[in-house]
Amino acid sequence: MKNILFLASEAVPFIKTGGLADVCGSLPKALDSNYFDCRVMIPKYMCIPEDKRWELQYKTHFYMDYLGQSRYVGILEKEVDGILYYFIDNEYYFHRDGLYGFYDDGERYAFFCKAVMDSFYFIDFMPDIIHANDWQTALIPIYNNSKYHYDIKLIFTIHNIEYQGQYDLKILPTVFDLPPEAGAYVEYEGCINLVKGAIETSDCVTTVSESYAKELEDPAFAHGLQDMIKKNNWKTRGILNGIDAEGYDPATDTAIAHNFTSTDFSGKVQDKLELQRLAGLREDAGVPVIAIISRLVAHKGLDLITKAMENIVRNCEVQLVVLGKGDRKYEDYFIWLQNQYNGKVSAMITYNKDLSRKVYAGADMFLMPSKAEPCGLSQMIACRYGTVPIVRETGGLRDSIVDCSYGEGNGFTFADYNPDDMANAIYRAIDLYYNNPEGWDKLRKYISTIDFSWAKSADKYDEMYSWLLGR
Ligand code: GLC
Repeated sequence: MKNILFLASEAVPFIKTGGLADVCGSLPKALDSNYFDCRVMIPKYMCIPEDKRWELQYKTHFYMDYLGQSRYVGILEKEVDGILYYFIDNEYYFHRDGLYGFYDDGERYAFFCKAVMDSFYFIDFMPDIIHANDWQTALIPIYNNSKYHYDIKLIFTIHNIEYQGQYDLKILPTVFDLPPEAGAYVEYEGCINLVKGAIETSDCVTTVSESYAKELEDPAFAHGLQDMIKKNNWKTRGILNGIDAEGYDPATDTAIAHNFTSTDFSGKVQDKLELQRLAGLREDAGVPVIAIISRLVAHKGLDLITKAMENIVRNCEVQLVVLGKGDRKYEDYFIWLQNQYNGKVSAMITYNKDLSRKVYAGADMFLMPSKAEPCGLSQMIACRYGTVPIVRETGGLRDSIVDCSYGEGNGFTFADYNPDDMANAIYRAIDLYYNNPEGWDKLRKYISTIDFSWAKSADKYDEMYSWLLGR
């Protein structure tokens, strides 16, 4: 049995702000448990919901020297579906109202990474592999390379290269507690760049789709790190994420009013009426409902939507439901659109897990025109609920959704980042919906049977771990 420690800043079912948390909650249990004992470690945030926080059990604690003080490191644990989750506890750093966006985030995650590296003896678990995810855990391979020198293989996964952990070089010896030699790895364009350091010092770099792995060599996607990626492409691979296909199953989902299966969609019609009622849309089973469930930020393609949507809503018998929060200008746009087209547009400026499932289940089409999308999980979840994805061909969207016009397709796609091309894909979907109801029904039933579970991708991780360990 080999030990894997999976590290991230968030994990389902405890705390989630994005897809990273879903991956941490579903990949570990999909790995081959005959060979790997995979455990997960995240910070113990105050904002983990109270009922979940109460379930965590105290394991141990120790004191760690950091920034000239002896700091408390508590460790709590909880097993979920056979996977042991550890939580690093320190109230000064994690007892806050939110996960990210504090002036001292660099220090908070440096503390977390150091505490992780110091914890193995106390939890009696020595990893053979540490799998670190995104900038918050990027210090792990850097620490091992320049301070700890454990006999551990290191993997670093990029879920989104936009966030790199950039800091002033002055704080290298203090906040990041690194020797001057580490500067050679972490320095980039005159700053500390933690993701760059992790790429340089890990044994293997992965990202969450094959297309994104290629896109990262392109300055249009790499946010400045393209040369670093190119230099290290010999150890980089793209592995598409899966979803928790059992957790997202319209046949058993308790958040939706009417369950349904791929052979009987009568429940989906009821869910649509329910959604229309809930969202303040005109109740009409015949009108196609387009859903957007997204953080309302530019890279999710919101500029295309704000340019094209009004025309579509004005010209077609179609409804739009939006669920998500984000930049004020986009929130305001959807509220404005809702006021202009009452009963046709619903802007739910919030995020809520159960509500999102009702939207996946009740809608007919799912719009995701991202400018960049490392993997994207929503398009796969939409398929599970028989909701036809309309996506831009980028990153994981390109690797999971194929346009219907290429025969065995599972959605509608467009290539260029351009509002007219997006509108065209939406019009093609609406056309199929109205003019070929049989074709539409066949399509939505088919997509609900596609296997987006972790099965295939977990095999690829198993294979990579085995390869790293020389098995
Ligand atoms: C990030 C990416 C998203 C991906 C997720 C999980 O949130 O933006 O595309 O699906 O990580 O890897």
